[in-house]
Amino acid sequence: MIRPIAWNGEGVVLLDQRALPGEERYLTLGDWREVVEAIRNLTVRGAPAIGVTAALGIAQAMRTPLSRDRDGMTAFFSEVCRAFAASRPTAVNLFWAIDRMTRRFERERERDPGGVADGLVNEALAIFREDIEANEALGRHGAALVPDGARILTHCNAGALATAGYGTALDVVRAARDAGKTLHVFIDETRPVLQGARLTAWEMQKENIPATLVTDGMAGALMARGKVDLVITGADRIAANGDTANKIGTYTVAVLAREHGLPFYVAAPLSTVDRTLAGGADIPVEERDPGEVTCFAGRLIAPEGIAVWNPAFDITPGRLITAIVTEKGILKPPFDKALKTCFDEAGGS
Ligand code: MRU
Repeated sequence: MIRPIAWNGEGVVLLDQRALPGEERYLTLGDWREVVEAIRNLTVRGAPAIGVTAALGIAQAMRTPLSRDRDGMTAFFSEVCRAFAASRPTAVNLFWAIDRMTRRFERERERDPGGVADGLVNEALAIFREDIEANEALGRHGAALVPDGARILTHCNAGALATAGYGTALDVVRAARDAGKTLHVFIDETRPVLQGARLTAWEMQKENIPATLVTDGMAGALMARGKVDLVITGADRIAANGDTANKIGTYTVAVLAREHGLPFYVAAPLSTVDRTLAGGADIPVEERDPGEVTCFAGRLIAPEGIAVWNPAFDITPGRLITAIVTEKGILKPPFDKALKTCFDEAGGS
C-alpha cells in the first residue's frame, strides 16, 4: 500500500509529494510548525490527507515537553489550531479534523499535559484509521458504478497519496479492477501543479492499472471521439446542496461530461461534506502563487510581469454531478435530501 503519512511515535513522517515521480523521499518532521509548512507547500496534499496530517501535527505539538499550567496549555492549543487552520482554506477535512481534535482536547484538558498529549495522539490515530476505513468502504460501493471495460477519465489526484491510504476516486477504480473488471484510466495532467501527471500517473503504474496521460485541453476531444465512458474525481468540500469544490479544471470536465452525455461521479468521505454551507458560492477558494503558472520546472514560461489568476480549485454545481460516492453508499440527486438523510443515519457526525 502507498503510505503518504505516518506517525513514528513522536511525530509526523511524510512522503514528499513535491519530489514525485522522480524520487520517493520520506521527511521526518521534528517540529509541528514544519507540519504546518508541509501542508502549505504541498509536501502533503489532497483533502483527507491534509486533515489527517493536521490532526497528527496538533498531537505532535501538544507532546512538546513544556511545563505549562492549564491556561497556558489551552492558549498553546488554540495557537497551534489557528496555525493549521491558516495553512490551506478550501479542503474542509482540515477544519473537520481541527474540530475533532478540539472536542477531544476539551474532554482531556483536566489531565496532566502528558495525559492530554496521549489523548490527542489517540484521537489523531483514530482519524487516520477511520480515513482508511472510509476509503475502503467507498471504494467497494463505487465499484458498482464502473462497468466492465470502462474507460475512466479522472482529474487531479484523488488516490492513496491524497488520503491516509487507498484514496477516494482512485480507490473506486482499484476496487473495480480487484472485482475482476477490465478498465482503462485517462489522466488529466492537471495544470498548473500537475497532480495528474506526477502523482496519479505514478500511482496507476504502481498499481498496474492501464492508464494514458492527456493534457487538460485534450479531455473534450477524447470524449468527442467516444473514448470515455465515465468521469470520476475527488472533492475538497461538498456543500449541503452537492455543489463541489475540487481541483481547478474539474468544472470544465463536468461541463464536458454533460455535453457528451457521460456520468460524472464524485467520490469523497463524509468528512469532506460541509453542511454549514448551503451552496458552492460560499466555499472559500484558495488562490496560489502566480509562479505556479508562469514557471515550469524552475524556468519562466511567460513574460515577466504578466498578470496571472491562479485559483487552486473550482466549483462544480451539484446539477452536473450524477452521484456522490461516500463510505455510507452512493448518493443520488437531489443531494440536499440525500446528504441530510445520510448524516441523520450516521448520527449527525
Ligand atoms: O491542491 P491539492 O493537490 O491539495 O488538491 C487536491 C484535490 O483537488 C483532490 O482532488 C481532492 O483533494 C480530493 S483528494 C481525495
